Formats: sequence, C-alpha cells, structure tokens
Amino acid sequence: MDKIIVRGGKRLKGTVTISGSKNASLPILAATILGDTPSLIKNVPSLSDISTMVQILEFLGARVTYPGEGQILVDPSGLNHFVAPYDLVRKMRASICVLGPLLGRFNKAKISMPGGCVIGTRPIDLHLKGIKELNVKAEVSSGYVMVKTTGLKGADVFLGGRFGSSVLATANIMMAAVKAKGTTIIESAACEPELVDLAEFLKKMGAHIEGVGSHRIKIKGVKKLNGARHSVIPDRIEAGTYMLASAITQGDVCIRGARVDHLHAVIDKLKEAGVSVQKSAKDIRVTANRELKVVDVITLPYPGFPTDLQAQMMALMTVTNGISVITEKIYPERYMHVPELNRMAANVAIEGASAIIKGVPLLSGAPVMASDLRASAALVLAGLVAKGETEIHRVYHIDRGYEGIEKKLSRLGAHIKRVE
Ligand code: EPZ
Repeated sequence: MDKIIVRGGKRLKGTVTISGSKNASLPILAATILGDTPSLIKNVPSLSDISTMVQILEFLGARVTYPGEGQILVDPSGLNHFVAPYDLVRKMRASICVLGPLLGRFNKAKISMPGGCVIGTRPIDLHLKGIKELNVKAEVSSGYVMVKTTGLKGADVFLGGRFGSSVLATANIMMAAVKAKGTTIIESAACEPELVDLAEFLKKMGAHIEGVGSHRIKIKGVKKLNGARHSVIPDRIEAGTYMLASAITQGDVCIRGARVDHLHAVIDKLKEAGVSVQKSAKDIRVTANRELKVVDVITLPYPGFPTDLQAQMMALMTVTNGISVITEKIYPERYMHVPELNRMAANVAIEGASAIIKGVPLLSGAPVMASDLRASAALVLAGLVAKGETEIHRVYHIDRGYEGIEKKLSRLGAHIKRVE
C-alpha cells in the first residue's frame, strides 16, 4: 500500500491549477444514464471515485471510452441492467446517485445500501422520502433498496432534514423528476454549486429545470432526453485545500482556475484569520506572511463553510496561537483526523459536535493514518509545517479526491513524495 512522506518546513510558492470537481462529475456521469444517445463529459479529474462510477456505468451496460485528457464518453444505448452491486457501492457512498437516473430510464432500480463510513452514518431516508412522492414504491431487503414505479409522476417534495438538505438526495430527485409526468417542486433543496452544474447538464440533455442553486427547484418532466457535451466546474474543495496549504506554510500561492463565487465562505474565514486573498480574473492569490489569528468555524450547507474543508481548516488552527472552536453541523462525528493530528503534537479536544483547538508553536512529524479523503488532506497540510517527516498511510483515501496531490504540492516547493 502506498504512503506519502512529507518533510515540513517549506513555504509554498507558485501557481497550482485546480482540477474538475469530483462532486459535480459523479452525479453528472450518473445522469448520462438518462440519455438516449452518448454524452461527452470534459474536465473530469482522474480520481479513484470517478473510476468507481465508471465501473458502475459499465456494470449497468453502458460503454465508456476516454477520447482525450479528462474526457469521458458514455454511450448509454447498451444499458440493460438496473442493479448497482454491493462491491461497487461499498467503495463509494456517492454511488447512490444512480438511483434517480435508473428510475428515470427503467422505472426501477436496485441499489446496495451505502452503509456508514468514517465521517458518520450515511442515511438515505431523504432520498427515499423524495422519490416515494413521485409515485415510486421503495423497500429495503438484504442490504439493497429496491425501487419501482408504474410511471413517475411529478409532485411537491420537501427535502429538509436534520442537517439541512441533502446534496445527493436533491440530485436523485432532480434526475428522476426530469422524466416524470407533470411538474415537480423540490422545497428545501440543497444549493451546492455541483447541483447547479448537474442541472446545466440536464438542461443540455433537454430537461426543463428552474431554480437550482436556490432552496426551491421546479422541474417539468419530459418524455425524452438526449446525450450532451459538458465541461464540469472546477473543484471548490480542492481549491480551498490549496488555499489552506498556502496559509499554513505562510506561503504565497496562486490558485488558478477556481471559481471565486463558490468560495466566499472560505475566503471570508481566511481573511478573518489574517490571510491575504487577492482575486484576479484567473487566479486567487493567497499569501500569509504574518502571524495569523484564530477563528471559529461552523460548517453549514452551501453557501456556508463547507464540511469538506473542516479538517483542513482545523490543521491550520492547530498551529495558530490561541484557542479556536470548530463545530460540525453536517457530520457531527467527522473528527477522525483529530487523534492523528494529536499524534503530531496538536492539542485538540472534542466536545460533542465541536472541536476545541489550542494552537501549538510547532507540530512534530509522525507516522499517521488517513481515514477519509478530507482528513487525509488535513494530515498532508499538517505535515507541510511539522518538524521532521510525516508518513501518511492508506493514501488511497487521498487518491479518491485529490488529483496528483504530491505532484501539485512538489511544484509549489513542498518536500513530498509517494512511496510504494
Ligand atoms: C455530498 O454528500 C458530498 N459528496 C460530500 O462530500 C459532502 O460532505 C456532503 O455532500 C455535504 O456537503 C458528493 O457530492 C459526492 P448530504 P451527500 O446528503 O450528498 C444527512 C467529499 O469529501 N442526510 O448532503 O451524501 C447526512 O447524514 C464528500 O467529497 C440524511 O440525514 O451528503 C449528513 O449529515 C464527503 N438523510 C447531511 O444530511 C439523507 O437521506 C448532509 O448529507 C441524506 C443525508
């Protein structure tokens, strides 16, 4: 199993180009199932999560080819299967987002329940609540959820949950409703930019959708959807990770190709901490050349501070003088990175859904264990400033969400290498 070794102490300098968004690519690749003709998706990052989604599409009968760098061509004409098997779904909870498209194409689907993962339980009650409103019967048996309908019917769906709305449940309802008879209104929909990108793709396929990006989405069902060409948005979480990498190393880094309008909450927090953030047409320049201040963070649904940057922000706070509090409102148990950061001499205590961080002058490199893809990124950031070497094991977690992280960081001057 590969590991990543980071030697701390280098200030990052230079320019890093942001890859396409993993969390936009996954539902968009799933949506190709709805088309009667092939779809070409561009700017897709080469990540193991993407390969898992491609394996699912091929398992269902689609033909997938790679016409160019970052390009995936999906020919859905051979789709003849509607079961997403356990051994693929267990690798990636997000596989649940084939539920809506399979319903839209076959009026039925059988998906292995995603089960829990290290960031917390991954329930699908909102997914099921939503599709049942569309004249769908759902039952759970032997670890699979079986759904079927005599015909999708538009309806009013309320998707508000205990933790706000659900990104992939909103995606699933949208992808079923585009083929339903009549109009569907999704109230308390999630507003993430990845859903806006999914809606853009669905509209290119011929869907009638309004209001994506707001809490109220209106969809008028159509009989037929065709394949389309689409280039996915840049990855705002990868961009935020590199912004924090610059901040933690007191570096001077230009983040190229990111969407400033997707990063307001992150930029706001960095500025509050004393990081300089200058925006230009192509770049976001992040420099930290003085003592930073501690900031408190609460993770919220978009446009709030993203839960997927919580661990990386915590890494920055562990070496910032003072006491900061981070509270998780999305995944209250998403703190697997805390014991690992504390192994590096950080001082973090968990109190329920909050973490209390007492900044320390210096972290010390140590062998640590990656747990989920964002926690792994936080350990890399901590390694960039720790004294000595940090060995991060189980890097397959990182490979799920960060395209060539060691190459991109090396180009910024970091001492980082991957060891077989
Ligand atoms: C998406 O997951 C992202 N994944 C996650 O990113 C991200 O952390 C999450 O949204 C929140 O922003 C993809 O887009 C592929 P949710 P999703 O349904 O849609 C609860 C990463 O690192 N909930 O919005 O699965 C749930 O337990 C990944 O790239 C229910 O209660 O997340 C959580 O507390 C990790 N019932 C909250 O809602 C449901 O039916 C938000 O979950 C569904 C979710």
